[in-house]
Amino acid sequence: MSTFPEIRLRRLRRTEGLRKMFGQPLPRAEKFIWPVFVVNGSGEKIPINSMPGQFRYSVDKLIEALAPIVKTGIGGIMLFGVVDENHKSIDANYAYSSKGLIQKAVAAVKKEYPHLTVFTDVCLCAYTTHGHCGLIDSSGIVLNDPTIEILAKIALSHAEAGADAVAPSAMMDGQICEIRNTLDSNDFSDTILMSYSTKYASSMYGPFRNAADSAPGHGDRKSYQLPYNDLNQALRESEFDEFEGADILMVKPALFYLDIIAKLAENTKLPIAAYNVSGEYSMIHASAEKGYGDLYAMAQESIAAISRAGAGIILSYWANQLEELELYRKR
Ligand code: PBG
Ligand code: ZN
Repeated sequence: MSTFPEIRLRRLRRTEGLRKMFGQPLPRAEKFIWPVFVVNGSGEKIPINSMPGQFRYSVDKLIEALAPIVKTGIGGIMLFGVVDENHKSIDANYAYSSKGLIQKAVAAVKKEYPHLTVFTDVCLCAYTTHGHCGLIDSSGIVLNDPTIEILAKIALSHAEAGADAVAPSAMMDGQICEIRNTLDSNDFSDTILMSYSTKYASSMYGPFRNAADSAPGHGDRKSYQLPYNDLNQALRESEFDEFEGADILMVKPALFYLDIIAKLAENTKLPIAAYNVSGEYSMIHASAEKGYGDLYAMAQESIAAISRAGAGIILSYWANQLEELELYRKR
């Protein structure tokens, strides 16, 4: 058996060309979904201080902002609505209004960019006065079964507006089954269901909650989102959603849960999406601002990790900066 000095591992990484040839390709634009915040009104492009490079857009400004992003060949966008207190209620009814914000946004985006795949987040938290992802009883307990009926109404209203895919993120039991049945019985059997199937009660959602104004007013989300120290529940949640008819599973957050992505990949043949969440994005920005590392080099390395772990689809705030990351479609 030959060994050093005949075998030299550095041989295959001597040049840029060799490194590219033998390395796995990084995911390109078509694998990315850009999560973006929409507000009512017009002419609005409001910077989100906790997330440099991200804004809350009114629909007209979103259409403008999407032009160069669509050119990069991006796979899709995921819409989140941010509304004022007048549009919030105890039961989130504005979330399924046919004239609601997301419903208008979906229709406008699909009209302008018919080939762009549009996903919508389906949850109550941005539309409830109390900020929880479900309906609550008088003692503040989040109710499961009445909530999934509302989630199905929201999903249906998004499908009616033209969404290609709906993505329930409330972590209620039975939500996938309920939404699939509602869509199918209303002639939306082609609408894709991407489940936030393995979603953790994470401390990495801070910048998002600030951007979406969706922090729970009392308590936390630990009675519905997953505890991060329980692997079996994490896998079971995704397995269950697969049985209920999800088309795509998701792990969220991504970077602190690479092991979960990898284990899930061994346990399913469904496509796996990973949500590279706000805290993961903002932490790299904060580090770069302090001069601890190069912004886009760190971002690219983190994206490579998510892809290596086994996520085929990546939801990421970096997705509006794919040219800087050199992950756009080159013609
Ligand atoms: C709400 C929702 C959250 C995110 C996506 N949908 C926050 C939460 O659960 O509090 C987080 C996204 C991010 O941090 O980027 N259901
Ligand atoms: Zn929610």
